[in-house]
Amino acid sequence: MAEQDESVSWTLTRRAFVGTTAVGGLAVAAPLAACAQLGPAEPEPDTTVTLAINGVKKSVAVDTRTSLLDMLRERLDLTGTKKGCNQGACGACTVLLDGRRINSCLTLAVMHEGAELTTIEGLAKGDRLHPLQQAFIDRDAFQCGYCTSGQIVSGVGCIAEGHTSSPGEIREWMSGNICRCGAYTNITEAVAQAAGKA
Ligand code: FES
Ligand code: FES
Repeated sequence: MAEQDESVSWTLTRRAFVGTTAVGGLAVAAPLAACAQLGPAEPEPDTTVTLAINGVKKSVAVDTRTSLLDMLRERLDLTGTKKGCNQGACGACTVLLDGRRINSCLTLAVMHEGAELTTIEGLAKGDRLHPLQQAFIDRDAFQCGYCTSGQIVSGVGCIAEGHTSSPGEIREWMSGNICRCGAYTNITEAVAQAAGKA
């Protein structure tokens, strides 16, 4: 008898719980659905910036507060450049601006009128990978891949700067690019391979 009571009691409790959750869930879901329809607050473009992106001149409508990274990802669908920290700490957003490595999350798009920008999408020539892209495959230099485009673009800059005389020098000059998977040894080998040092 005691068992039956316990069972009934449990059933009622469970039903009450499910009912409460369903009602509560609906109460929460309605405003959430309304928010989802509104979508993220995307600032309206109020100016235009013209740059050469991967060799192609483009004029892009942006808000003056739009970062270079958001312009690439949100306005041009160039999503190979990743947003990691969005505050200059991880290097996932690295691009080459007039040949120099920069964190695209830390700079405004409107500051770069007339600049030449190279992103990960601009490294391969048709079906032919950039030597550093090939080296990343050869050396198994990634795991989840989230940091990889930033690592490769940064590695291209590192090689062009000539900071590849030793594994230690490569590690030092690639230290702005964080890999949460810890693929550093293979990344260093890949950069050395593309630089002709391994
Ligand atoms: Fe730019 Fe992390 S997203 S440095
Ligand atoms: Fe996963 Fe670098 S491969 S963060």
